[in-house]
Amino acid sequence: MHQRRKTNEIRNKDTDSKAIETIPSHPYKDGVKSSASGKQLCQQGHRVLMIGLIIFGLFPLLFYFSSWVRCQYIFGPLLNWPPYTSLSSPQNLNLNCTINHNLGVEEGVTLGIWHILPKSQPTKCEKGLVLETEFEDNRPVFLYLHGIIENRGASHRLGMYNVLSQSQVDSHVVTFDYRGFGDSSGTPTATGMTNDSKAVYWWLRKFVSEKRIVIWGHSMGAAVGLRLVDELLKDGESVAGLVLEAPFNTLDDVAVTYPPLAFLSFLPYFDTLIVEPLKDKDTFFNPEEHIVAVKKPILFLHARGDWLVPYSLGEKLYQKAQENRPSHMKSSVQFVNIDETGSYGCGHRWLSLDPKLPEVITKFLESLNGENIKATLSTSA
Ligand SMILES: *[C@@H]1O[C@H](CO)[C@@H](O)[C@H](O)[C@H]1NC(C)=O
Ligand SMILES: *[C@@H]1O[C@H](CO)[C@@H](O)[C@H](O)[C@H]1NC(C)=O
Repeated sequence: MHQRRKTNEIRNKDTDSKAIETIPSHPYKDGVKSSASGKQLCQQGHRVLMIGLIIFGLFPLLFYFSSWVRCQYIFGPLLNWPPYTSLSSPQNLNLNCTINHNLGVEEGVTLGIWHILPKSQPTKCEKGLVLETEFEDNRPVFLYLHGIIENRGASHRLGMYNVLSQSQVDSHVVTFDYRGFGDSSGTPTATGMTNDSKAVYWWLRKFVSEKRIVIWGHSMGAAVGLRLVDELLKDGESVAGLVLEAPFNTLDDVAVTYPPLAFLSFLPYFDTLIVEPLKDKDTFFNPEEHIVAVKKPILFLHARGDWLVPYSLGEKLYQKAQENRPSHMKSSVQFVNIDETGSYGCGHRWLSLDPKLPEVITKFLESLNGENIKATLSTSA
């Protein structure tokens, strides 16, 4: 039935085109036609050439010369999803007991922040919260530093907040968008993103002691986190520990395999125009340098199926941390292989899907020296 209709349609088309052909045509029609298709081919050729020139010529040049292009391309704040209009109302994203805050960092830079309360505090939420009492318990507080592109409402990030706040981990999560991301104003740079995380850290410190704070960094956020803690330590400030989720050792190493850059790696000028400019202070993150100085408890989480930041780069960073610690501190750095068999499809972004994660994080929290963390863990057990 269906097929018949189709053949009928084709037939109709055939007769239509025949009908067109029988219409007396312009004497030069054929000549015009063939030169037009030649022109079309030529135009298509031009178009392909133009696109090629833009991708393989103009783009690398812009990347080389423009810090703005590099920052936008590497950090991707313009790929803003979900749209930021909903960020000030986190309840729309199915988040339990989450409060939105705004924090001015400097002229022209205001950040959007969420505070997600631990699951053991639901009544507190119903009563209505004021900032002064939001953190008034002894639960650990994760300062969550997200990776590139999208914003603090991205679904894979929500998945991790859920593990940290609604599972047995039962902790506070403070998450924010760096300048230029989500509803935060400004333009991101490596220094700017570090300054933003520091500003949120000091805002948090008005309410909680350093011993309750664990820095959680995912991907690029892990690089921001290591730099943040390194700078804090130099100012005499400490934190309880760090969790590095799918981290890399250094940005120039990851560029070689990172698909949005790696597709250019066959070009003879790849190193000069793409890799070297990454080392500019506006984009460069070098976790390897900071991890040597950050002698705090660190938990590495990485999935072998990570297609964006290879597992081996996480291992490299872990080795670096191990090599540079005195023997009595080596055990405070742990590397946990997430989704060993690949059956949960964690990849780079969905480590929250491995059901062993709450247990792994709880054990890590128990191992920390933060006295408040220990005290609360034993009372809640
Ligand atoms: C929010 O809390 C309710 C009741 O406490 C619970 O049933 C629900 O699963 C929670 N939602 C999330 C996303 O955790
Ligand atoms: C970051 O903070 C430092 C120290 O306060 C300051 O000198 C620098 O200008 C800031 N950079 C940016 C990009 O905000």
